[in-house]
Amino acid sequence: PMTTTTPTDRHAAARETLAAIGQEHVLTFYDQLDDAGKTQLLDQIEGVDWPEVVELIESHVKAKPEFEMPDTIEPAPWYPHTPGDDQRAKYIEAQRTGEKLVQDGKVACFTVAGGQGTRLGWDGPKGTFPATPIRKLPLFACFAEYIHNIQNRYGIKVPWYVMTSPINDADTRAFFEKSSYFGLKKENVMIFPQAMMPALDMTTGKVLLAGKDAIALSPNGHGGSLKALFTSGAIADMHKRGVTQISYTQVDNPIVRMIDPLFLGLHELDGAGMSSKMLPKAYPKEKLGNFCKVDGKVTVIEYSNLPDELAEQRTDDGELRFRAGSIALHAIQVAFVEKLNTRPSESGSSGASFALPWNRAEKKVAHLDLTTGELIEPTEPNAVKLETFVFDALPMSETSIVYETDRIDEFAPIKNADSAEGEPENADSPASSKRIQTERAARWLEKNKVRVARQEDGTVDAVIELPQVTAIYPDDLEDEKLPGGIKAGSEVVI
Ligand code: UD1
Repeated sequence: PMTTTTPTDRHAAARETLAAIGQEHVLTFYDQLDDAGKTQLLDQIEGVDWPEVVELIESHVKAKPEFEMPDTIEPAPWYPHTPGDDQRAKYIEAQRTGEKLVQDGKVACFTVAGGQGTRLGWDGPKGTFPATPIRKLPLFACFAEYIHNIQNRYGIKVPWYVMTSPINDADTRAFFEKSSYFGLKKENVMIFPQAMMPALDMTTGKVLLAGKDAIALSPNGHGGSLKALFTSGAIADMHKRGVTQISYTQVDNPIVRMIDPLFLGLHELDGAGMSSKMLPKAYPKEKLGNFCKVDGKVTVIEYSNLPDELAEQRTDDGELRFRAGSIALHAIQVAFVEKLNTRPSESGSSGASFALPWNRAEKKVAHLDLTTGELIEPTEPNAVKLETFVFDALPMSETSIVYETDRIDEFAPIKNADSAEGEPENADSPASSKRIQTERAARWLEKNKVRVARQEDGTVDAVIELPQVTAIYPDDLEDEKLPGGIKAGSEVVI
């Protein structure tokens, strides 16, 4: 096809595309823009998959897609945190297999950090948020310490891929530069942006403008990572390095195991394409996706879609029948990502047909008034944002395992802002994360015979920080010089 290169040609082509679908208002202010503004807007217009947007306006904006309840929903089986007698040998083999994968340089770390982090109210990429209780180490630095630990342990270098979005890509790169890549080798850190979707007016389906020279675009959800890994060249880079498994983690959890040999080993031994870690839910309607089995495939059903009667069901021993909650940690075969991106489309045409379902979210999105050119800050949700979720790829994997991890050992996410002074602690906030980090450090110290001051209700009466470069397992503390005890009211970095 002919490529149009002059701004005039590009403008004409954009006008034609947009007019055909009733979205020509996107160019309302075009003639008032300087050259840079014109280029930016044209780049954005050319970057949108308009046929897809047109379809989504009908299916997800003008209509609300209904959740289709599968005929049968079973709980997905999982590997328990502590193996049963009949599983012990398998766990030992899995640990060995996972360690060999890591040792042989076949595992890459992958952090999805393209989200906007609006709930936290932090001005900047979430990965730059100070997350640890005493050193105030930024999230990205926590992950780097974990990688240093693995590198030291196995005498290898671990490649780390970080997905940003066009909104935070430059700031993220600048932060890594300024921090000298946290002592990691720059050539082993790959940062790439995910794709964006326009925000759409909730009633009219019109694309919203964030400025005279900009569409209101937002990241297309963490599901976008499965495409971005491929289109960015990350998968090709993994091939060059001999990487076969991706350890997928979120940006919000400072104590996440960036690499977990046992989990990776179970996933590898069972030949799974994409696998997940789970936590037993604390109560039936806890806001975690539920690992279910639908048509023989592991499938995540959102807490909001799991019928109450199923959520409340108990097994004979009184445990929740649907117990396994998703904490968004996955092991993904490089070959699985490749297969998704290269399999022929169902319509028979060449090219990838790989598509995850879209999810509709109603949000407040600031946008330009097209007559006055003024920015309107809505007080009520006015727009639909569309995102795909990475876990919706699970049923596309022939085999998929679920492995149970421990809440205190591995899950202290920071998602919401702290509560106001004197109010009860917000869930998944900096305060709750610091409390869990301290509790985890205390347990690990106590396992190593260190006395830790606790209050009457059992909470730790001190602030303790355990750097990941020092320990990622309790046993790692055996060789450390530890304090005899942690005194009440003290602040201690181990
Ligand atoms: C997510 C999961 C939830 C799980 C919880 C565990 C969903 C819908 N829910 O909730 O089931 O229990 O984590 O912590 O996923 N991101 C991108 N690009 C995007 C959007 C998000 O990279 O376009 C990244 C974020 O930077 C973050 C992660 O994905 O690292 C999670 O994002 P978020 O949308 O906030 O999901 P949660 O509500 O935290």
